[in-house]
Amino acid sequence: MVPAALSSCRTTTVSTPHEGEAQWWHTAVIYQVYPRSFADSDGDGYGDLPGITSRLGHLARLGVDALWLSPFYSSPQADAGYDVADYRKVDDLFGTLADADAMIKRAHQLGLRVVIDLVPNHTSDEHAWFAAALAAGPGSPERARYHFCDGRGADGAEPPNNWDSVFGGPAWTRTTNPDGTPGQWYLHLFDSKQPDLNWANEEVREEFRSVLRFWLDRGVDGFRVDVAHGMVKKEGLPDWAGHSSMISEHEQAGTATRGQDASEQTHDPDAPVEHEVDLGNHGPMWNQPGVHDIYRDWHAVLAEYGADRMLVAEAWVSPLSDLAKYVREDEMQQAFNFAFLASHWHAEELREVIEDSIRANDEVGAPTTWVLSNHDVVRHASRFGMSTAGGNVSPPGPDDPQPDTALGLRRARAASLLMLGLPGSAYLYQGEELGLPEATMIPIELRQDPAIARGGEPVGRDGCRVPIPWEAEAPAFGYSPTGASWLPQPADWGRYALDTQKHDPDSTYRLYSRALRLRREYALGRGGLAWLDLDADPQVLALVNGAVTVIANTGSEATRVPATLDVLVSSAPLEQYDDATWLPGDTTIWAVRRADARTEPFGPD
Ligand code: NOJ
Repeated sequence: MVPAALSSCRTTTVSTPHEGEAQWWHTAVIYQVYPRSFADSDGDGYGDLPGITSRLGHLARLGVDALWLSPFYSSPQADAGYDVADYRKVDDLFGTLADADAMIKRAHQLGLRVVIDLVPNHTSDEHAWFAAALAAGPGSPERARYHFCDGRGADGAEPPNNWDSVFGGPAWTRTTNPDGTPGQWYLHLFDSKQPDLNWANEEVREEFRSVLRFWLDRGVDGFRVDVAHGMVKKEGLPDWAGHSSMISEHEQAGTATRGQDASEQTHDPDAPVEHEVDLGNHGPMWNQPGVHDIYRDWHAVLAEYGADRMLVAEAWVSPLSDLAKYVREDEMQQAFNFAFLASHWHAEELREVIEDSIRANDEVGAPTTWVLSNHDVVRHASRFGMSTAGGNVSPPGPDDPQPDTALGLRRARAASLLMLGLPGSAYLYQGEELGLPEATMIPIELRQDPAIARGGEPVGRDGCRVPIPWEAEAPAFGYSPTGASWLPQPADWGRYALDTQKHDPDSTYRLYSRALRLRREYALGRGGLAWLDLDADPQVLALVNGAVTVIANTGSEATRVPATLDVLVSSAPLEQYDDATWLPGDTTIWAVRRADARTEPFGPD
């Protein structure tokens, strides 16, 4: 087959550059720090706040605008800190409140904004409120802060409804009365150690206004809102036969099912693209209209501190028009774009999700966000090396078919360069700037994701949470001075260490830092987007954002780079032959028009 050339000059405008004053979060690149796995200062094998503070220079040098930290609050760590026992305290594992203050101060000195995690859907069962609820008994105001209900059937022995927990098993646990008899049930959409709060209760609402102010007073710039689509449940808690999941179930409607092996989920590049990724979660516990009242309320709390504080929703909802409701003018500022994260490495599908995302947010006047990895999903350097070539897949474990590491990394670099070339704000997950793959070989008995014990996930999410490598020759690759690490690091991770990559011009770290510098220089975050409608290869995605042309080749055939373009950055080496420059498969470039080029970006060369 003769490789096709890019020869069209037709463009389709999707969005225009942002005019006027833009808040920082409109365009920010926000780096997710997973505190237990970033940097361990005291050698106990768990990362901590002083460790983060000591490594903030890395983020400033990389060129991001902000960091978001997963929870570091006081917690029994039943779900890695997403089970909060005290929202105003730092867990001993991570340090002290003074360490949090020092971290925020240092970040601000370096010009980095700080976003922290807020977990309002549930507390820990070790929160003082839950202990009080158990002690106070049925019908008490203490129990009214949660969802306590009598069971169904004889002696109330059946759960109040048929809901499943996201982590597997029933979403209800029965309590035991002080006299040892079986008592009421309480609702937990996640682990039994994460009882759901009742957001119909004004006391709950007031408490969280106060928690927001507590951290705003300490100088944080924003909050990532955990389970933002789950806080309000449908009146009467009606039965629902479906099952909710964050990962693995909703590959794409009709193409993958729960429990299907990765090797069975095959990626067919010629298959028709589904109109929109369905993230599922359509049950009576998700995306209820009442959640929006909470965010309008919080918007007003943040506004007390000026216009530059922000909220970002973790809301696994679809369609994108429903997600856009979370970022209406008087609600949150951002919502994670999981439809983009769940896409395959497929030009047509990417084009569709990018365009739909921008259009849905334009309807409500909000900028778009982009994300490829986080602490809940398979790292994209592995996801794109699986037979599915992306998608919202089950994490592979030691007994599963293994991702193709080289192919995955090649595509991940190309996907990241595409993402960073889009207008709006982008989220990075710690270690992706090093090209880290998923750690697939961690023995199941060392894994800590509570979803494994509850039967919801056979392998769980630990593979993307392994402590990251800083120095190839240091204990625990520089993560911990003693070499301790709460999850084992793969023995060959020295090759991904920051110090190995810093001086290698072709490294993933250097690619990210170059892209971030250029993104800033060309103001890509506040740019617009016009597709270049190619009459050539359907595997090639080309767009113009301001002065920069972004071309991603998701196929395997090389395509010619027009002679009118000068390449600024490329995710893999380009090829030169036939008096032309060629963009190989699984590669993205950013380019600008040559000074002497014709006005049409893709006129015949
Ligand atoms: C979403 C968080 O990202 C995830 O890690 C956590 O397990 C659930 N919410 C429950 O809080």
